[in-house]
Amino acid sequence: MPPLLTVQWNLPSVTFLPANITVEYDPAILKDTGHGLPGSLLDIALNFPKSGLHLEHACGGNCACTTCHVVIRQGEQNLSPMEEDEEDRLDMAADLTIHSRLGCQAVVKGDVVIEIPAWNRNYVSEGGASILGDGIPPPARAR
Ligand code: FES
Repeated sequence: MPPLLTVQWNLPSVTFLPANITVEYDPAILKDTGHGLPGSLLDIALNFPKSGLHLEHACGGNCACTTCHVVIRQGEQNLSPMEEDEEDRLDMAADLTIHSRLGCQAVVKGDVVIEIPAWNRNYVSEGGASILGDGIPPPARAR
């Protein structure tokens, strides 16, 4: 009898610290959330609303604020390269590190571990709200 065919799925996973929530997903079936680049850290977080994940995104994921600032703890090589507009915007972020990215612009290509900075985590619990909110239409999407 021939051996059974085994298929090994190597699905990317993203771990969000400090909540220590890990989501593993098939990129081909992510829903288009309309916030951030398709497959970005923000897009992934919004694809799992029941996980308890919350990544603030005051500008709707349009690279126009810094509320989606995250720090990459592992797997930086598994993210899309930083574009100039992200770099320019990120310069305005609080607590900037050399491992900082904007969650709405960093597209996941493999396993990553990220940390949401404390000031960002506290933003919502302290009554923060989007200034621009959903009033900004999502960017045109190309998949
Ligand atoms: S959500 Fe505003 S820059 Fe990412």
